[in-house]
Amino acid sequence: MNWEKSRRLYEEARKYFPGGVNSPVRAAIKPYPFYVERGRGAYIETVDGHILIDYVMGYGPLILGHSHPKIIDRVLEQLEKGWIYGTPHESAINLAKKITKHYGYDMVRFVNSGTEATVTAIRIARGYTKRKHIIKFDGCYHGANDNLLVKAGSAASHYGISASEGIPEEISRLTYVLEYNNIEEFTKFMAKNGDDIAAIIVEPVIANTGLIPPHIEFLRTLKEEAERHSALLIFDEVVTGYRVSLGGAKEYYNIEPDIVTLGKIVGGGFPIGCIASRNEIMQTLTPTGKVFNAGTFNANPISMVAGIATIEELERGYPYKYANEAARKIADALRELLEKLGISGAVNQLASMFQVFFTPREIDGVDRPSKARASDKNLYIKFHSELLKEGVYIPPSQFETCFTSSEHRKAEIYNTIQAIETVLRKIKEG
Ligand SMILES: Cc1ncc(COP(=O)(O)O)c(C=O)c1O
Repeated sequence: MNWEKSRRLYEEARKYFPGGVNSPVRAAIKPYPFYVERGRGAYIETVDGHILIDYVMGYGPLILGHSHPKIIDRVLEQLEKGWIYGTPHESAINLAKKITKHYGYDMVRFVNSGTEATVTAIRIARGYTKRKHIIKFDGCYHGANDNLLVKAGSAASHYGISASEGIPEEISRLTYVLEYNNIEEFTKFMAKNGDDIAAIIVEPVIANTGLIPPHIEFLRTLKEEAERHSALLIFDEVVTGYRVSLGGAKEYYNIEPDIVTLGKIVGGGFPIGCIASRNEIMQTLTPTGKVFNAGTFNANPISMVAGIATIEELERGYPYKYANEAARKIADALRELLEKLGISGAVNQLASMFQVFFTPREIDGVDRPSKARASDKNLYIKFHSELLKEGVYIPPSQFETCFTSSEHRKAEIYNTIQAIETVLRKIKEG
């Protein structure tokens, strides 16, 4: 396959950006990332003219696929009226109405990224509880957030950075890292330290160490212990919000965290972050309270209208039907093929997300990040690059998740499964 134009652009980009990129996972494609000309539905077209079935979908926001016509219409309509005013706009109220209804909270604050949402949620929790310490879980990623960049998933795992340089030890010391899905360790820890904890933050479904669904008892225990010790439970639903259901993992598992952070889908693919909670917690934010947050681009009308258009489509139900069915069928086929060809591995799937792990035989399923990390990452990379040659684009890192959209229909599913079979057979033959 000829990727010459992408190669030339990457060479140029390396002069201007560290590693040639502006977000590290984009450099995980070897020997260089491809550049995109356009995206439509389930497909992206590269500048080299290759058309690929996309399972990255912008790392999660594009549950309706690329360039959805309803979003284009709404954004164009807004663009004609201007896109930033420095004073409020009705679209923010309309998006807030939807989110408060679906998530069962009183109020929200819109910011510009998932990172800003988790930064703000932690600040709120500290301001509200007047405590300093935070619990996070190994393998969960909550954005490029000083408080939470310890044993983080996503690109931090991919590049083996268990604690980012540039974050003072005094800050990292305020964050305890425990094992995901390990109830015993967590309850013991809370019995000893629970009254010092401001917040327990978790990806209710890990989407940043591959995909790792929770044991429901684990999530329930987080809720019980948070309540017992008056700590705040934060579900980071930047990925799962509006993806696993309209009301996110909170609704899916029927567990009531104190705060939910959202991003990705709620902006319809435009920059956004959101913190949602009940009145007494949200009122701690400026200007009513003394927990500071502000932003030139907060609640910008473009992200608001794109988010509303996306959620209106999701409310019709069909996107979940198609996106979930695609993920389920591909995951089932992957499992069958691994079995049939005698390749050792595990496949996790939930709603419109899935990931394969080439685990050693003794690992029976991946329910903890340590098991995901024990899988053969080089084999995953080979799987990724061979699939690319077959016209299927999955994330270049084992520690990301494959996303489907409402545009992944019969033909895309069929062609993807064919491509997977071809690639697994090649792998089997060595
Ligand atoms: C669960 C989770 N939280 C937070 C973030 C950070 O969001 P953003 O990249 O928009 O800052 C991400 C990004 O992938 C995420 O997956």
